[in-house]
Amino acid sequence: MPGDKSISHRAVLLGAVSEGETVVRGFGRAGDTESTIGAVRMLGAAVDEVAHDELVVHKIGLSSSEKHVVDCGNAGTLMRLLAGLLVGQTSLTNLTGLIELTGDESLSSRPMERIAEPLRRMGADIATTDSHAPLLIRPAESIRGIDYELPVASAQVKSAVLLAGLSASSPTTVVEPSPTRDHTELMLESAGVRVRQRPTSVTIEPAASLRLDQVDVPGDFSSAAPLLAAAALVPGSDLTIYDVGLNPRRTGFLDVLERMGARIAVFNRRKAGREPVGDVQIEHAELVGVEVGAEEVPLLVDELPLVALLASHARGRSIVRGAKELRVKESDRIDAVADGLRACGARIRAREDGWEITGVPARLRGGRVDARGDHRIAMLGAIAGLASREGVDVLGAETVAISFPGFFELLDSVTRR
Ligand code: S3P
Repeated sequence: MPGDKSISHRAVLLGAVSEGETVVRGFGRAGDTESTIGAVRMLGAAVDEVAHDELVVHKIGLSSSEKHVVDCGNAGTLMRLLAGLLVGQTSLTNLTGLIELTGDESLSSRPMERIAEPLRRMGADIATTDSHAPLLIRPAESIRGIDYELPVASAQVKSAVLLAGLSASSPTTVVEPSPTRDHTELMLESAGVRVRQRPTSVTIEPAASLRLDQVDVPGDFSSAAPLLAAAALVPGSDLTIYDVGLNPRRTGFLDVLERMGARIAVFNRRKAGREPVGDVQIEHAELVGVEVGAEEVPLLVDELPLVALLASHARGRSIVRGAKELRVKESDRIDAVADGLRACGARIRAREDGWEITGVPARLRGGRVDARGDHRIAMLGAIAGLASREGVDVLGAETVAISFPGFFELLDSVTRR
């Protein structure tokens, strides 16, 4: 699998504010992570591309009071985390001038007050454009630590607040409605920051300097997920994926697959730095319907479209609740999934916060899925096509490159005709 996208973003961002050099191995090169390399370069950090998946990131050099405009492309993680990192005038970034963060059409339609509001509570000078990007940030001389209860379970919002907390005058605590991915916390710990993690909250101490010598990026579980879904659905399949990230706050999809009756084994569990890693094997199986509720959603938020696809082929009724966040991803994924799968013959109904699906334990007919510019919907369409009788035309298939440029080649290489 390509290197984990969430961890790759964080490695480059934290590398750019860490003393000396940060070697990033297993970097997941994709549209989104290229945006992150471009962003830190724009802000004055050198990034050496030693190999396709290996980078050396240098600290942002001289202090600068110039205005910077940074294009975050399609990457919500980049825009939100970078905003947190930049709101304080700190020895980490050395930047004092105005910073404008822009994004593409999709990113510019996503909510940004969710980060601006807590950051302002910390003393940040950050303005949104009608609650959206572009964001205008004037690094503030002093940032205060806060205790912040997240209104939505979002690792991006949590991370933005924690990263701002690095330049604060006192500790920062974020309380989560339910646990979300903790890659930021784990990497900050590796960089020498004092982090106290509890089941539903985290506290960090301010830090005058970071040191992150090396990051070993595991394979991206979210990129593995479409292949796992394909193997579960296509009769005769037996697929093993090696060296994939298994952070328990990312692998809710494995639990859901197991509840649906999939035949999965995880072996060779180990650690890459502080991140759990292992190998996953899956075989085809008859699936049954499943229920997914709000508390579980953050653990498989990017895999929920695949749950809808699996449920369309499973015996009985399935329901996904508490997933309203999907409406503000790269597309409105609740509607994109319901419309796309229905066009392939699935019996799926969109709810405000998820879907109701009546599974048919047979192959879907196939049809046409519009990716709506969203990489995860393009991959969903491809897997729906593989499992279908007549195939699926994926409109805008090239958008897979946002997270997984080699997706179609890899899928082809493991498919027997
Ligand atoms: C991410 C967090 C999630 C996820 C996104 C990556 C991250 O977003 O959907 O693909 O790297 O922190 P939210 O925090 O908005 O749920």
